Amino acid sequence: MNSTMHLSTPTSLPSEFESPFLRACCRLPTDFTPVWFMRQAGRYMAEYRAIRDKYSLLEICYHPELAAEVTLQPVHALGVDAAILFADILLPVIPLGLGLEFAKGEGPIIGNPVCTMEDVLALRPFQVETDLGYVMEAIRILQGELKETPLIGFCGAPFTVASYMIEGSSSREFLKTKTMMYSAPDVWHALMEKLSQVLTDYLLAQIRAGAQAVQIFDSWVGALSPQDYESYVLPYSRKILQSVKAKGVPVIHFGTNTTTLLPLMKQAGGDVIGLDWRIPLDDGWALLGDKVAVQGNLDPAALLAPLPEIKKRVEDILRRADGRPGHIFNLGHGILQNTPVDHVKAVVDMVHEYGN
Ligand code: CP3
Repeated sequence: MNSTMHLSTPTSLPSEFESPFLRACCRLPTDFTPVWFMRQAGRYMAEYRAIRDKYSLLEICYHPELAAEVTLQPVHALGVDAAILFADILLPVIPLGLGLEFAKGEGPIIGNPVCTMEDVLALRPFQVETDLGYVMEAIRILQGELKETPLIGFCGAPFTVASYMIEGSSSREFLKTKTMMYSAPDVWHALMEKLSQVLTDYLLAQIRAGAQAVQIFDSWVGALSPQDYESYVLPYSRKILQSVKAKGVPVIHFGTNTTTLLPLMKQAGGDVIGLDWRIPLDDGWALLGDKVAVQGNLDPAALLAPLPEIKKRVEDILRRADGRPGHIFNLGHGILQNTPVDHVKAVVDMVHEYGN
């Protein structure tokens, strides 16, 4: 090991002091606004489709070297300021004993959904390092490949994961989920208790493996009223967020349709709160207060518009952030499948060049 070389390399500073993304998570000033995209690896990229022609989504996840390769694709193609591990929020349901499939064009399908207390009690004990060891292995591979770009690990929040476990597939109304909450609260609370333990273990394992930040995806939590969020969800999300906070790694707490939930999501925790496009960024930030960073909030559909229209919208968001430390540029939700890659790349450049 050449220690002289190590000392003379500027990148020998711990990356949290250098990376604009990690600095923004901690509300430290940056030279430019950092930007990454939810679902930045995916079917809108030809390189991803080439791998998907040969392997299923789950096969990519199960093979750490493939997951690492796909994670790196948008980092190389777009010049984003963070990488997000390629995995899926539903992977933990497999070792819990539920069958998971991704049906073509239909999204996730869980063959044996959770309905009763017996079903909750039958969920298998979970050994994260062995049962989901392939995720940790992908993180370890990426640590060697990413150089100065930080890696974001993630999990689903208990509500969003529970909704798939109960509904058995994607849902619009969440009727089975809400019926369990309202009619069998003991079953709901037992399931949420179990999930908050499992998901905490999972995130802590990702951090041990080398994830430098983590995001908790509560994608569908906006289906709930603030009162229901407070009683049925907040205590469980808070458990996970607090356990991760104790490790000193920045946590991003994300949801959509959350305009009325933002103050409660902030109470649950997170160094960074995700904002979707339904609320102007400055109004959302005002609801949260200045003790928290924000991530967002371009409408993913705006990426399909002509470049001058995209630019207007990107600049509007950056104007609303007004150079305050603690803004990470992102979409309000994941990149859509038919998004032109050159538009995504153009947004990265617009964000980086803003104000210069
Ligand atoms: O680039 C990244 O963001 C990392 C990879 C990632 C995937 N899923 C891969 C994936 C991440 C962060 C997720 C999270 C995820 N998975 C969420 C939360 C984020 C969100 O979008 O709200 C949810 C709800 C899921 C569950 C899930 N997985 C659904 C509903 C679907 C089908 C929807 C679709 O786009 O077809 C998936 C499949 C999935 N997971 C894809 C990808 C890239 C689709 C592409 C494919 O089949 O190859």
